[in-house]
Amino acid sequence: MKNTGAMKSDALIDDIKARLDIVDLVSEHVDLKRAGQNYKGLCPFHTEKTPSFMVSPSKQIFHCFGCSKGGDIFAFVMDYENMTFQEALSHLAGKAGISLERIKGGSSAAAALKEVLYALNREAMLFFQRLLASSGQARAYLEERGLSSGTVEHFALGCSAGDRDALLSHLKKKGFSPEQIKASGLVHFGERGAHDFFRERVMFPISDLQGKVIAFGGRTLSSSKSVPKYLNSPDSPIFRKGDTCYALHHAKQAIVQKNYTIIVEGYLDAITCHQHGFLNTVAPLGTALTAGHVHRLKRLSSNVLLLFDGDTAGAAAAKRSLELIFAEAMTAKVLMLPTGEDPDTFLRTYGPERFKFALSKAVSPVEFLMKLYGKKKIEAAKYALSLIPACPDALLRDETLREIASWSGLNEHAVREELKKIKPKPLASPYGARSSAGDARQELQPKRERRDEEEILLNIALSLPEKAPSIVRRLNPDTMEDTLARRVFEKMRTLMSDDESTSSLTERLLALCGNEERALITKHAVAPHIDQQYVDRNIEDCLDKVLLRGIEGQIKAAERDARETGDTKQLHALITEKRKLLQKIADTAQR
Ligand code: UTP
Ligand code: MN
Repeated sequence: MKNTGAMKSDALIDDIKARLDIVDLVSEHVDLKRAGQNYKGLCPFHTEKTPSFMVSPSKQIFHCFGCSKGGDIFAFVMDYENMTFQEALSHLAGKAGISLERIKGGSSAAAALKEVLYALNREAMLFFQRLLASSGQARAYLEERGLSSGTVEHFALGCSAGDRDALLSHLKKKGFSPEQIKASGLVHFGERGAHDFFRERVMFPISDLQGKVIAFGGRTLSSSKSVPKYLNSPDSPIFRKGDTCYALHHAKQAIVQKNYTIIVEGYLDAITCHQHGFLNTVAPLGTALTAGHVHRLKRLSSNVLLLFDGDTAGAAAAKRSLELIFAEAMTAKVLMLPTGEDPDTFLRTYGPERFKFALSKAVSPVEFLMKLYGKKKIEAAKYALSLIPACPDALLRDETLREIASWSGLNEHAVREELKKIKPKPLASPYGARSSAGDARQELQPKRERRDEEEILLNIALSLPEKAPSIVRRLNPDTMEDTLARRVFEKMRTLMSDDESTSSLTERLLALCGNEERALITKHAVAPHIDQQYVDRNIEDCLDKVLLRGIEGQIKAAERDARETGDTKQLHALITEKRKLLQKIADTAQR
């Protein structure tokens, strides 16, 4: 959530927050149990067996101690529903019963355009279906590919004409404006005039989760090698190719029931799987699996079976997908079909029983990689190891590590040593703010027991905001060692410089901060680490120690100065101050 700083003043946001409760909102998706002042549940953003996801009703924030995601209702909706801030805003406004007109001009025009584009794509689908009914060639092709008329109907398949602008004329006749038609991407408006984007192709409507048509895929019917075999609608306000799964609308119920998703590579593979009763099958749209796909699928089930074509492209796709699977802490099984086969040809050659049997032989990612690399065990182990640091789930990381050791025959200790040398792979995720791989790596080391003073002060100031002013007044951020904590204190000081009021301090602070700071803030804000009765004493102790460190730093500098200038007045003053402080610390320790 980037621009909330500027948007925070917006009355709409405050209004939404006033009407919605984060506990209700999160409870729609997570089973929350009361735990002291907070609620606790299994984190919806990573796989975990014991709850580390906390929701604070008093501060209206959430934080997960496992993956360190955190924030307010907007952050929750953006992450959970995979929405932009604007989308989250209109979603939550709707929930809060605030009418969409109140959401600034621009976005209601955008909402109107989306509605038009849904209608336009549906019109195009009907058009392509009618063309199929009258195209002998296209129907013969689908029959030859083994698709039943029921399947053709179920997937609303159609075909596009060979002419330059059949669809364009049709859409105009239906009253769509050139701007709207252009925005759909179904017609290309070039220098030499406009022409239909899809020509002489079998048309596969692509739907969203609700079944609304948002785009098309088209497979060429021509034998010419100069045209691409498959084309997709370009991205539009209602379609993002990179995170849309083909057939998801038809598969969603089966995915939930079977609790796993079969992911195949092509449109026809997905369709043929459905025709043979494998209803939990989807396909990305000619791209490798992305974080966007995985986010959508994870809501239905966190288990996937990756089914790859038996060719070198399939092997490459498998490796790329595994990187993502680990980074998203999904549980995967992998199956690569025999050379030259894809799910479509396999099903049609060997039938559903053999296919089912093949699926039952799918293996873990590590086993898959070991077999893929054949005799090159070390290379395989190194590659498999390189996937681990990006995985946010400690249990999965450990399990994978053991598996690598046992499959490669390498000593587990040696494998662990090797892992320490690996830098996490940067992942191309469209959602930048994934939990950082660096964090994941640290978790493998034993947890740092030492909770130093700066962290305690931060925890108190955030979890018990009424204590914040006295801390902020006396703490000098310049002397702090933890740069992240220092940045948070600096911002707190800025906020309090005009106004020491601590009401909704956390929220105002979050609005000023970047992702890293936010995670730290929500982590501390959900709960105090210290018993109420010892809080004041802890504040004193910690402030004294931080002050002491500050003075020690100043003394070092004064010593250098004194050596150069011979003037020791400053140095002595500091030493006196340090002595007083030490005395005070000794006195309080005796009390
Ligand atoms: P394949 O070439 O494996 O296609 O591409 P396929 O599904 O087996 O094709 P058929 O069986 O000959 O019809 C797999 C997927 O990659 C994308 C498509 O999504 C296709 O379903 N693709 C392929 C493209 O986007 N463009 C292409 O030119 C080829
Ligand atoms: Mn194929």
